[in-house]
Amino acid sequence: LDNGLVRTPPMGWLAWERFRCNTDCKNDPENCISERLFRTMADLVVSEGYAAVGYEYINVDDCWLDKERGANGQLQPDYSRFPNGMRALSDYVHRLGLKFGIYEDYGNYTCAGYPGILGSLELDAQTFASWNVDYVKLDGCYSHPKDMDRGYPEFGYFLNKTGRQMVYSCSWPVYQIYAGIAPNFSSIIEHCNLWRNFDDIQDSWASVESVIDYYGDNQDAIIPNAGPGHWNDPDMLIIGNFGLSYEQSKTQMAIWAIIAAPLLMSVDLRTIRPEFKAILQNKGVIAVDQDPLGIQGRRIYKKSGIEIWSRPITPLQQNYFSYAVAFLNRRTDGTPSDVAVTLQELGLAYPGGYAVEDLFEEVSYGVLSPETKIKVKVNPSGVVILRANIHLPRFQSQNQKTVYD
Ligand code: GLA
Ligand code: GLA
Repeated sequence: LDNGLVRTPPMGWLAWERFRCNTDCKNDPENCISERLFRTMADLVVSEGYAAVGYEYINVDDCWLDKERGANGQLQPDYSRFPNGMRALSDYVHRLGLKFGIYEDYGNYTCAGYPGILGSLELDAQTFASWNVDYVKLDGCYSHPKDMDRGYPEFGYFLNKTGRQMVYSCSWPVYQIYAGIAPNFSSIIEHCNLWRNFDDIQDSWASVESVIDYYGDNQDAIIPNAGPGHWNDPDMLIIGNFGLSYEQSKTQMAIWAIIAAPLLMSVDLRTIRPEFKAILQNKGVIAVDQDPLGIQGRRIYKKSGIEIWSRPITPLQQNYFSYAVAFLNRRTDGTPSDVAVTLQELGLAYPGGYAVEDLFEEVSYGVLSPETKIKVKVNPSGVVILRANIHLPRFQSQNQKTVYD
């Protein structure tokens, strides 16, 4: 969607995977879906340094609504959990310098059974604008997937008509794919800023692997749809929760960056351990995700449990790209695997060579020619992610220190 927003994938925090539909503020006041939870997470996004590395959106998901619409048909939060209303929460988030996202559903109900927008599209778009919402995730439960070709653009029209700039996150293709309908991606690209293609992520390595496989196995169809302002959404980062090891967490972060994914953390920022926080805040990996070219990367090798994924990034020189390259070890024999390959074999053929660094280890390999063989050691269910910048010896590039030759 060419609305000037998310020219690089959105970054932020999203409640769903970690906090679900916990509405029991009586017995679990610290973790229920409430104004208090979102204020706390917004505070921590700033105070713990996430905002400084690019995380920006604080996104409410399902279960914020009252079971009934208000007297004039307008959407309203459950005031027992959002006592000051959504505009006050939005204002709070904005005062912190962050942006505010909300969740609704194109059908008669949200997935958790709260009022959907069907029948009230224009009013609901206006309500969101009046709350200064910056981002709308529109889910697709309780609607007919074939109606979405009309419905998602229609709601987008009403969002646009409010005059307020809002990121528009759609679930349109995923529901159609599950219903056996081939999505019309040119229309989806035109009307949505991001969209889900595949299953909800869950807090497990098996779930992350299934997402990685889906994006790899279907990459020829998926990749061309991504670009500035329109992104594939493989769902939230679950790093820092219960299901992923340290190595697996680095793998999720690296692959999400390679596939130009939105970086929406769903984790309790009050209790996250420092090593997981460091993964989420790795500036080198974030820079890959946020590369201005917006080209989604691909799986270029898969054999005997070893995968190599690569993404073209800046800086460019003539017809040559720089690259981020991720090596995955999905073997289950429990021992680190060596992978040795020349840059040329990875498709890195710029005659002037590449300045290569390891983004998690923060070590530099120096400038390597395309013929150089590099060898990496990849831990089980782990990753090594390299950045290979085109070496520009005659110019002082902003991204690399170079010496005039
Ligand atoms: C669907 C979506 C999830 C989440 C839930 C909320 O399953 O895909 O991301 O929003 O609904 O009920
Ligand atoms: C459901 C269907 C829509 C429409 C409405 C009418 O949501 O998905 O196509 O028929 O009911 O309320």
